Amino acid sequence: MDYYERRAAEYDATAWAHPEGDPRTAEAVRSVLASLPAQSTLDIGCGTGYVSRWLPGDLTLLDASAGMLAIARRRLPDANVVRASVPRLPFADRSFGRAFAANLYGHLTEQQRAELVSETRRVAGEIVILEQVAEDGLFREGPEERELLDGTRMTIHKCYFTVERLLSEIGAGEVLMNGPMFAIVRA
Ligand SMILES: C[S@@+](CC[C@H](N)C(=O)[O-])C[C@H]1O[C@@H](n2cnc3c(N)ncnc32)[C@H](O)[C@@H]1O
Repeated sequence: MDYYERRAAEYDATAWAHPEGDPRTAEAVRSVLASLPAQSTLDIGCGTGYVSRWLPGDLTLLDASAGMLAIARRRLPDANVVRASVPRLPFADRSFGRAFAANLYGHLTEQQRAELVSETRRVAGEIVILEQVAEDGLFREGPEERELLDGTRMTIHKCYFTVERLLSEIGAGEVLMNGPMFAIVRA
């Protein structure tokens, strides 16, 4: 978690708005999410809210990082903001129409992922997950070294998915996007 707290201020510039990134990737994600029917939505691991603003409907933003949430709050002042660490979700059954997670699910271990899926089923009517796909088409997970702009190196847990693997983990569902770079599935 320390990694994302430390990365908060540089997150947008080094992720979605990366100068070497292809802006068509973000546009493809925006367009898929914006086409979903409006729902009361819990965004789990919302980060800076860069993606959250594309979700139609009332928003509750959840993240474990205070630094990330401070940026998300400025970006989306009308959203509810909750600081919590998943997989447990601090909400009553059926609190939301939709639970959404972008680039969070793949940082969890297999057991945490199973717990989170079970928790999202409890609190929301549907789950939408966005994750990075494996370019070679082979699911893999494990430690990955990352470097912050100040040169600090940190190790995180990271999964690269196939849509088949995502669907099998969240239960049968539909594929809303399969590449480039990201898959979006709904169950
Ligand atoms: C890769 S960022 C994704 C942010 C945003 N969803 C996006 O796609 O731009 C992962 C986010 O998940 C948060 N996070 C990681 N592990 C978490 C946990 N166990 N509980 C809550 N938030 C977590 C981090 O603080 C970070 O903001």
